[in-house]
Amino acid sequence: MRSHLCGEINETLAGQSVTLCGWVDRRRDLGGLIFIGLRDTAGIVQIVVEPDSAAFADAERLRNEYCVRIKGSVRMRPESQWNESMTTGKVELVADEVELLNASAPIPLLMTDEDGEEVRLRYRYLDLRRPRMQHNMRIRAKLNQSIHKHLDGHGFSEFETPILTKATPEGARDYLVASRVQAGQFYALPQSPQLFKQLLMMAGMDRYYQIARCFRDEDLRADRQPEFTQLDMEMSFVDEAGVQAAAEDLVRAVFNDVLDVELPAPFPRMTWSEAMEKFGSDKPDLRYPMCLHNVDEHVSHIDFRVFAGPANNEEQRVAALRVPGGAKFSRKQIDEYTAFVARYGARGLAWIKVNDVEAGLEGLQSPVAKFLDDKAWKGIATQTGVETGDLLFFGAGDWLQTSTFMGHLLIRCGEDLALANDGWAPLWVTDFPMFEWDEESGRHTAMHHPFTAPQSDSADELQANPMHALSRGYDIVLNGAEIGGGSIRIHKSEMQQAVFNLLGISKDEAQAKFGFLLEALKYGCPPHGGIAFGLDRVAALMAGEASIRDVIAFPKTTTAQCPLTEAPSAIAQSQLDELHIGVIKKTE
Ligand code: AMO
Ligand code: AMP
Repeated sequence: MRSHLCGEINETLAGQSVTLCGWVDRRRDLGGLIFIGLRDTAGIVQIVVEPDSAAFADAERLRNEYCVRIKGSVRMRPESQWNESMTTGKVELVADEVELLNASAPIPLLMTDEDGEEVRLRYRYLDLRRPRMQHNMRIRAKLNQSIHKHLDGHGFSEFETPILTKATPEGARDYLVASRVQAGQFYALPQSPQLFKQLLMMAGMDRYYQIARCFRDEDLRADRQPEFTQLDMEMSFVDEAGVQAAAEDLVRAVFNDVLDVELPAPFPRMTWSEAMEKFGSDKPDLRYPMCLHNVDEHVSHIDFRVFAGPANNEEQRVAALRVPGGAKFSRKQIDEYTAFVARYGARGLAWIKVNDVEAGLEGLQSPVAKFLDDKAWKGIATQTGVETGDLLFFGAGDWLQTSTFMGHLLIRCGEDLALANDGWAPLWVTDFPMFEWDEESGRHTAMHHPFTAPQSDSADELQANPMHALSRGYDIVLNGAEIGGGSIRIHKSEMQQAVFNLLGISKDEAQAKFGFLLEALKYGCPPHGGIAFGLDRVAALMAGEASIRDVIAFPKTTTAQCPLTEAPSAIAQSQLDELHIGVIKKTE
């Protein structure tokens, strides 16, 4: 039907006759001439229909989003009308023939970034026609293609794993599917292929990967969807360094392929405790030239309980954040930051504006400076490297909570002052604690998942001091986003049993839920480990999008609904009966 794509039309085709197909992006009637922006997957080209052209009457009838085929000849535009921002911007197509392939009803959205999420998802097939979304979806396709190319060339084989399966615990709720044949029994959709990929290693497959759909019923945010895609990988006879090297090579190859970007080799590494101490986050964004400073030693002697208390307590800290140029913040802005950290449990936020660093204590403006002496201020100033015009924020209290709220503050100030350096900042975070203590349920929960190996080989040692145990897990972070996580796995039945014990999973429960795994571990399971990347997050970063919804063709809203198909929806009583399901009506 066509000889070229719209976005391919450029000066090299001047004088040639071409046939294009696409949609009317915009039609303008100007003094007898009709201009049409014709759009297809490759871009937009300007069409001119002259008044004496046989196509004029047909062109006059066109409206936005009509689907058309246009024949014409390519002509250079006068230099004064070049549009350098478009690849087609130096030429236009003079139409000889306009054929209407299909008219369009009036378009129910603006087809710009102004459209709201609800209407964009309701008419997703129109929203996806926009160049921005076309670009995003192509990046995603190219990413997948590049992954296949790289991994196929590095000894990995792609295997599929079941979707109708048994629960795999990754910390979220399961989506369940009722069985018709087995009354009252349910499949769980996989939260990840974790257990199957481990079984594939036990099956001698050596190196596995899969671009796998995962399902998690959890609270949704910009970077979370109820169904999302992982690049899931697993390798036998490897340690942490082996998995990380394979994963890094892949990330570098893919960024090079898709974006023509060179990432550093090797990626920097940081332990979890260093990440929390210095950045107040397990996914530091190293593009910000800021970090948290532990100022305990400088304030432990002062007569200010808010600081001296935590400074003298092993389990607490006083953390300072230097905000370059922050002395210009107004009282109102500082109050906003105080309210912001309160959301993360902070009971206050102390601050010092440095109006003149040479003047020592005299040069400061602050509600807390009066509590400091020369020694304390000198220590703080030297450690933070503060300069005239900067502001220091201080958080004091419980080590983890204070680190966390100061970490959020670091990112927030960095964003507000646009302090991020350009480019890409990849990072490995390692040496995570094995367990977290969950106050609510009064038991340990796994920081990664229950199949992650502890650093110690001894189950007795682990059981003696679980809260101090470190795991063989690692996360990969890019520009402050956790794009992947993995670990070396437990490959011995006794250790797996010990970890289940510590997680409060009884022998019977372990047998019922994971009996197949415990059994499989008995038959010569090789040491193995792997990683899974959140591909939606990688694609969003590559496309420069803040939300993963903008790189998923048909995503769900934050209430896990699809406005286009109206899923989820009620189902007929007959179908419920067949599935042996009774529905309890929600009472308001
Ligand atoms: P984890 O739970 O860390 O590990 O998931 C791996 C990566 O998947 C992405 N991700 C998500 N992306 C979008 N929406 C979600 N709801 C969502 N949840 C997670 C993140 C995350 O880093 N089986 C282990 C991996 C392993 O140990 O090999 C696992 O699933 O980018
Ligand atoms: P207060 O003694 O509670 O009136 O607090 C004196 C100053 O210390 C105020 O500027 C508070 O914002 C600040 N402050 C109080 N609690 C904390 C805390 N946990 N971390 C940092 N600053 C705090």
